[in-house]
Amino acid sequence: MTIQENIDQQLIDSGSEPMSNLSSNAHMADIIQARFSRRTILQGSLGAAAVGFLGASLSGCGGDSSSAGGDTSAPLAAPRLGFDAIAISRADTITLPAGYQWAPLIPWGTPILGSFPAFRDDGMNTGTEQLQQVGSHHDGMHFFPINGASDHGLLVLNHEYIDSDVFHANGASAAPRPQDEVLKEMAAHGVSVVEVRRSVAGGSNWEVVAGVYNRRVTALTEMEMRGPVRGNDKIKTKFSPTGALTRGTLNNCAHGYTPWNTYLTCEENWSGYFRNSTDDSASRPREHRRYGVPHSGQSSRYNWETATPALGNDLSVRFDCGSIEASAVEDYRNEPNTMGWIVEIDPFDPFSTPKKRTTMGRFGHEGIVFAAPVAGEPVVFYSGDDATNEYIYKFVSKNVYQPGLRGDDLLDEGVLYVAKFNSDGSGEWLPLDLTDPDFADAVTAANGTTVSGILFDGFANQGDVLLNTRMAADIAGATKMDRPEWGAVCPRTGMVYFALTNNSGRSTADDANPRTSNRTGHIIRWLEDGSSAATSFQWDIFMLAGGTSGALAGAVFPGDASETALTDDNVLASPDGIWFDDAGVLWIQTDMSGSQQSGTGPDGDFGNNQMLAAETDTGVIRRFLVGPKDAEVTGVVMTPDRKTMFVNIQHPGDRSDPGQFTSNFPANDGVSRPRSSTVVITRTDGGEIGL
Ligand code: FEO
Ligand code: CA
Ligand code: CA
Ligand code: CA
Repeated sequence: MTIQENIDQQLIDSGSEPMSNLSSNAHMADIIQARFSRRTILQGSLGAAAVGFLGASLSGCGGDSSSAGGDTSAPLAAPRLGFDAIAISRADTITLPAGYQWAPLIPWGTPILGSFPAFRDDGMNTGTEQLQQVGSHHDGMHFFPINGASDHGLLVLNHEYIDSDVFHANGASAAPRPQDEVLKEMAAHGVSVVEVRRSVAGGSNWEVVAGVYNRRVTALTEMEMRGPVRGNDKIKTKFSPTGALTRGTLNNCAHGYTPWNTYLTCEENWSGYFRNSTDDSASRPREHRRYGVPHSGQSSRYNWETATPALGNDLSVRFDCGSIEASAVEDYRNEPNTMGWIVEIDPFDPFSTPKKRTTMGRFGHEGIVFAAPVAGEPVVFYSGDDATNEYIYKFVSKNVYQPGLRGDDLLDEGVLYVAKFNSDGSGEWLPLDLTDPDFADAVTAANGTTVSGILFDGFANQGDVLLNTRMAADIAGATKMDRPEWGAVCPRTGMVYFALTNNSGRSTADDANPRTSNRTGHIIRWLEDGSSAATSFQWDIFMLAGGTSGALAGAVFPGDASETALTDDNVLASPDGIWFDDAGVLWIQTDMSGSQQSGTGPDGDFGNNQMLAAETDTGVIRRFLVGPKDAEVTGVVMTPDRKTMFVNIQHPGDRSDPGQFTSNFPANDGVSRPRSSTVVITRTDGGEIGL
């Protein structure tokens, strides 16, 4: 039977139950058949939502790679998670299953460089000291083994932002801001590269090595602009009149890493750090306006542009992006255009200049994740734009991957696509490339019209397209999503999963975003039609996050068209970080709001933010970790032997007032200042994590 015949047959039998025994070698026909059955069943509760169609054999990511002679191509038949789910908790500590232990590592302020200035719990470390210490608000993170070791390597992690009330002794001073407060805040942003090794104490105890690789990249670090936007008039500034350089990376959320062992840090909510002092809401350039850069009637997030006295070399005044002088090379009107990119850092070369890879688009990059690289084929990345109703993107390199070679050229030339999710379960990657006839036609048709509330007057060149990636995606006809967060690619099947954290303001559901007032979020997934570089795909929904009852009750759809309600073992809201370990376990981390954690909301009793382990084949999901009070759980990686897991705890006590802390993590002594921290997790018997 052809695929179409299968579909036709299923449509005829639309009232029937789906096949319950799909072959383990199902063809796409079976998958599509399952989709249509599924869709029929769900029309009552989810409208036309496509759920659980991707089929038993192609869905999931289990494969029993741990069993002797295991067939890694076969789907997982039975649960293999080796721990019991833990209950929700509101304790101010890390809670783990029986048989697991944890210890903190590199909390904010840990000295790693220079004179190794000690952290001061009174909040009185200076900006110069902060430049030699681990930053704040740990987020995305990768472990680069040294010589393949599982007890020694470089931990590289992002520092997303700061909470003024716990960062300074008495909170932030009012504008104009004291110079050193601003310097210290800039120094706490960015990235840390820290050499770490297991300590002689063993267990979960690791320590910092005072090694040559240790480095801080901050909001002050000089960076090179690469790719099609390099030299563009719209990134020329007083600091870089040729448009080749900029300084700093901001709001580094999630991350990625390349097959050639470099780290990618992603600039997410960077726009609010600026203020356009000369333009009101309507007259701002589209490169400011479509990204929400504050206008003259608004304030910047931390008032860095008001530092008094100003930091040298215009390091603070550049955050005023007004058209203050006669030309762009005399002021910083274009400074925001040097933010919103993916930044590549070589952790093994502490003197290297980070590179902003403009080919991969300018938006609120949550993170970036590679499809498995294949020799002789292009490299493919996925990246979400985490803002309400923004899009999911894919990048396909022009040149092909050659194992063992550095990939400099791979990240500077290629095509950026944006996702369109069709209601029939298919999807399209729409190229944002002026050489593509369809995109060029759409751009021509849009000329003179209003796009996202802004009069569109064309793109001058491909660099202009990339500087205005969001408008380009608007014009191409991308699907608005419920805040795309991390993506993860199954190492066995290549299926791509994306967390859509929430969108309480969604008033109109669509197939890929099937709930209005989606306060609890969901996880979508797709399979490319062929290689990773394909321009079409098939998608469904893996999980609707939520509680055990109510309008947003949670459910998981593992792929054989079955549906399992979430239970006390795995209720969650606002999924954010997701990551596949190399055994195929999908780890899901949450970033629930304060009210969701308090249990005062309408959707369920979720406790503190948490991390769960999911088997995407069986749909078994178990809560593995609960974080401390008022913290987000984000960033996860394991050592190659799977026996040590690193997890980041961000913003513990983020509802504190100065001196009145709602958390004392990680000291847990009732008095100390809360500090974002990595935690190291091991099994007491030394075994592999999760299984
Ligand atoms: Fe920085 Fe979208 O979380
Ligand atoms: Ca996040
Ligand atoms: Ca989030
Ligand atoms: Ca967050």
